[in-house]
Amino acid sequence: MLAPAQPGVLPATVPLLTMRDVGKTYNIRGKRTSAVDNLSLDVAPGEFVSIVGPSGCGKSTLMMMASGLIHSSSGEIHIKQSRITAPHVDIGIVFQRDALLDWRTVLENILLQIDVRRLKRGDYRERAVAMLASVGLAGFENAYPRELSGGMRQRVSLCRALIHNPSLILMDEPFGALDAMTREQMNLDLQKLWIQNKTTMLFITHSIWESVFLSDRVIIMSPRPGRIAAEIQIDLPRPRKLAVRESAEFGAYSAKIREKFQSFGLLAEDDQ
Ligand SMILES: Nc1ncnc2c1ncn2[C@@H]1O[C@H](COP(=O)(O)OP(=O)(O)O)[C@@H](O)[C@H]1O
Ligand SMILES: [Mg+2]
Repeated sequence: MLAPAQPGVLPATVPLLTMRDVGKTYNIRGKRTSAVDNLSLDVAPGEFVSIVGPSGCGKSTLMMMASGLIHSSSGEIHIKQSRITAPHVDIGIVFQRDALLDWRTVLENILLQIDVRRLKRGDYRERAVAMLASVGLAGFENAYPRELSGGMRQRVSLCRALIHNPSLILMDEPFGALDAMTREQMNLDLQKLWIQNKTTMLFITHSIWESVFLSDRVIIMSPRPGRIAAEIQIDLPRPRKLAVRESAEFGAYSAKIREKFQSFGLLAEDDQ
C-alpha cells in the first residue's frame, strides 16, 4: 500500500505550477499590445525551468502573471492546484535590480519576508545566517546594502527570496547586471541553494549558457506575442561544475537553443 502523502506536499506527478492557454494583452492609451498568447506550461515540484526568448517577447509579463502581480487577459494559472487571482504569498521573487531596503541591515532585509507574513522571526534567524554563510556572506549580517557590491546584494536577494521556504521561486534576469565572473559565481551559488532547498524554480535569462548550466528544462519563447517555440530537457548530472560548459553535451544543448533563435532571424551570422 502507498504511504499517505504528507499534507501540503504534492506527489511528483502533479505539477506545482500550471499555466493553461494564458494570454496577456496590454491596453495603453488605445494601443493594444499582445505580449503573451495562448501559452501553456507545467512545472513539476522541485524542477528548475529556465525561459529564454528574444527581448520583448513577454518573459517578464509571464513571470508577473505567475506571481499574481498582474492579471492574465485569458487562461488560468494554478500553483499547487489553487487558482492564482491575486499576489501569492507562497512564492519568492528576484528581479534584475535588487530591491533591498537601504535602511535595513542584510539580516533585517532577509527577515522582512518573515515580518510581512507575520511569521516568528526567531524561527528563521538561524536559517538566514546559515543561508548567508552558504553564499559566502558569513559576517555580513549587520552590514547595510550600501556597503555591499552588486553581486553581494543579489546574493542577499536570493536568500530573501528563499528564507520562508516558498513553493516556487520566480527570477527575472537576476544576474543580468553583474560582471561575467560574478555571474559565474552566482550561478554556482544558486545551484547550491536550489539543491539544498529543493525549491521549484522558474528562471528567466537571456543567457543561453546560463539556462543550460542551471536547468532541468529550457523553454524557448517565440518573438512577441510570446508562445512556447521549443523546449529542451537538459540531462547533465548535478551538481554541475563550470567546466561542464566545455563538454560536448553542453555544446550540443547550447547549439540547439542558438539554432532556434536563428530560426527567428536573430543571432544572424554573415559569411565572413
Ligand atoms: N505595463 C505595460 N504596458 C504596456 N505594454 C507593456 C507593459 N509591459 C510590457 N509591455 C509590452 O509587452 C511586451 C512584452 O514585454 P515584457 O514582458 O517586458 O518582455 P520581455 O521581458 O521578454 O523583454 C513588450 O512589447 C512590452 O513593450
Ligand atoms: Mg523582461
